[in-house]
Amino acid sequence: MVNQYIHLFIAAFIIFSFIGFTSSYILFKLICYIVGNKLRGKSLSKRQKYQSKGKPRRVVIGFFHPYCNAGGGGERVLWTAIRDIQKEFENVVCVVYTGDKQVSKEGLIENVKTLFHLELHPDSLHIILLEKRHLVSQESWPRFTMVGQSLGSMILAYEAISKLVPDIFIDTMGYAFTLPLVSHILDIPTSAYIHYPTISSDTSSQIPPSNWPKKLYCNIFKYFYGWAGSAVDLVMTNSSWTAGHIDSSFGMKSVVVYPPCNTESLRSIDISRQRKKEILYLAQYRPEKNHELVLHSFKLYLERFDKKKEAKLILVGSIRGPKDSERVLMLKKQARDLDIEDNIEFIIEASWEEVVGWLRRAWIGVNAMWNEHFGIGIVEYMAAGLIPIVHNSGGPILDIVVPFEGQPTGFHANTAEEFAEAFNSAFTIEDPQSRRLRARETSQNFSEEKFSQLWLRQVDILLKTETLRRRERIYRTGIKED
Ligand SMILES: *[C@@H]1O[C@H](CO)[C@@H](O)[C@H](O)[C@H]1NC(C)=O
Ligand SMILES: *[C@@H]1O[C@H](CO)[C@@H](O)[C@H](O)[C@H]1NC(C)=O
Repeated sequence: MVNQYIHLFIAAFIIFSFIGFTSSYILFKLICYIVGNKLRGKSLSKRQKYQSKGKPRRVVIGFFHPYCNAGGGGERVLWTAIRDIQKEFENVVCVVYTGDKQVSKEGLIENVKTLFHLELHPDSLHIILLEKRHLVSQESWPRFTMVGQSLGSMILAYEAISKLVPDIFIDTMGYAFTLPLVSHILDIPTSAYIHYPTISSDTSSQIPPSNWPKKLYCNIFKYFYGWAGSAVDLVMTNSSWTAGHIDSSFGMKSVVVYPPCNTESLRSIDISRQRKKEILYLAQYRPEKNHELVLHSFKLYLERFDKKKEAKLILVGSIRGPKDSERVLMLKKQARDLDIEDNIEFIIEASWEEVVGWLRRAWIGVNAMWNEHFGIGIVEYMAAGLIPIVHNSGGPILDIVVPFEGQPTGFHANTAEEFAEAFNSAFTIEDPQSRRLRARETSQNFSEEKFSQLWLRQVDILLKTETLRRRERIYRTGIKED
């Protein structure tokens, strides 16, 4: 008797939950649909201004980049990407959503030109100003920063699309949570270019088990981050390192599109010129750059191979504040203690011309940082024709110092012993010229042309997806869009 009721109860429960879930899903879709239509209607007149009569429809690509005037590496990617689109696709209008209110469009274009030497056309570029950028700044969220910024970015993205509905939405600053929002409301293709994962498996594994609330917080956030990422149509990452983390979080395969490095001028250095027996280390004077290891290796090298008379080590780097200055003093003292100070030169705050001078004459370029995610300095060594010797970890071995046509381009080392051995090998290899050439060829992986080629291929995919998605949308809703 009782058993029967239990069965009934379970059946009823299943039916009601099914109805509950289905109806909330339908309700959710309905709300998205209504909101999306409302936003489309609001944008209509603005969007029509981008079209011209008798010409093919122009597709609006929206770039979500709240800090587009920051002048950093992320901005170089953004503006190169837009420049390439302007060159290649006549029927695309680029729109940048940004909170940089102090500067006009003309001012922005001017800044991009002086800073990155990129020419942008004002006609097919539009700037949409956002009022609520403070919602994504770190200072607004002293606690629960990750969650706060993510929620803030969703509000900001809503502001963006309510000011102008794009046809394709691309986040270029790593605000992954904007993507499911835009994707659900507008039903358009979304994409992301990711420089750095907001959270990775490293983050939570670095928290000690005793701090379980924080660990739990990180794991829950990571779950939602993965959910957000899975809504994206196309993900690009800036390196294999980032790709590894993003692919495991998002459960998809991203496309690695290396950012463009400006190595043009270095590649014009004559590769056959005579070089000095010098080792160059281009790196800020920061602890993680591990200058100590280089000093120790150099000492070992000088002693073991009896090179005190000829070899030199050149350290070139900038300092950010008093902490770094102290480091330089400490390193100088270490050099004295090791009795190698006469073979070392410390250069602080060199101009680019001076750096090029060092790149022109040194034999080897070294990098001792453990697990560096990338290392633009190493790319510069290779473009200039130096033989790179890098720590056997991270991006340098995944992406940069990789074989060319099956032949090595440089050396990988872990310990001072191995670095010292590598110095000797690099100074004495039989055919240094061909190694330099291979290194230079490999550095082309990071050239502007390579970036443009890969990036435009992705844009092409997005444009094709957009055509299909739009046709489907119009068919389903029966609403004519602009
Ligand atoms: C990718 O972006 C991160 C964060 O800005 C940066 O540290 C890293 O060097 C970049 N990688 C490449 C290949 O430029
Ligand atoms: C880098 O360039 C070399 C030579 O062109 C090529 O063999 C290699 O596959 C490239 N690596 C990546 C990661 O693109």
